[in-house]
Amino acid sequence: MATKVYIDGRVYPPEEATVSVFDRGFLYGDSVYEVTRTVRGRPLELGAHLARLERSAEAIALVLPPRAEIVRAIDETLAAAANAESYLRIMVTRGAGPINLDPAAADRPRLIVLVKAMELPPTKAYSDGVAVCIVGVQRNLRRAVDPRVKSGNYLNNLLALAEAKQSGAYEALMCDFQGRLAEGSTSNYFFVRDGAVLTPPLDVGILEGITRHRIMDLAHKAGLPVHEMELWPRDVKSFSEAFLTSSVRGIVPVVTIDATPVGAGVPGPVTTRVMAAYAAFLEAS
Ligand SMILES: Cc1ncc(COP(=O)(O)O)c(C=O)c1O
Repeated sequence: MATKVYIDGRVYPPEEATVSVFDRGFLYGDSVYEVTRTVRGRPLELGAHLARLERSAEAIALVLPPRAEIVRAIDETLAAAANAESYLRIMVTRGAGPINLDPAAADRPRLIVLVKAMELPPTKAYSDGVAVCIVGVQRNLRRAVDPRVKSGNYLNNLLALAEAKQSGAYEALMCDFQGRLAEGSTSNYFFVRDGAVLTPPLDVGILEGITRHRIMDLAHKAGLPVHEMELWPRDVKSFSEAFLTSSVRGIVPVVTIDATPVGAGVPGPVTTRVMAAYAAFLEAS
């Protein structure tokens, strides 16, 4: 089990993986990134992740290295780490330069690929579900740094998670400025009501999760009604089930929200069905 880091054309062991303190990723969070995992050694949904990286970069006018170079860097780093399964983080910063907010002060984009051994949440999280809480920290406004942009500036999400952890919860559930349910610090949310699978729409201001997209498709193909819909904290009592999704974790059932059981307070039949469909998808990937 190894950690390896690609920086600007070379793969390093973790203790030698360093970047300049003048890098704008360090100074300002002026970067974009993606996270996925491998399945049988290959990056899961790589095409979708690279497409989102390109959309994020475009939104902040950051010019990425060519896709072929990024793919080559990923292959090299995965090969050097040689893990059974890996966590994979692809980062592109705007580069280094003088202390100056002006993006024009950056020298050139810096590509970093970090690979480490894959670690899933404890099996208990999947079998028994987790507790989450609705936090006071709001999801960023779309007219600030749009939550669709997966940028290196995650301080807001970090504070949301810290607030959730303080209440003993596993993950935060953030609302937008109007109070609508939005997403987690590093996850999207799904809820079940009257047998239908509900999830907040993109225009609430959330990350367009690759897993979210996959789950909506799989649930639909499994014959479940799927709706993107505005939801509010007051709706929570009407949900019979809930779960959260992300590329690394897949699907994690949510059994309490703000210490109140969701439905029966155990992973429910719809969640179990969607988890089985996702497991089959991973098996076939
Ligand atoms: C804010 C946020 N929402 C949702 C997700 C889940 O996205 P994906 O399914 O693409 O991993 C992430 C992933 O890290 C995230 O950071």
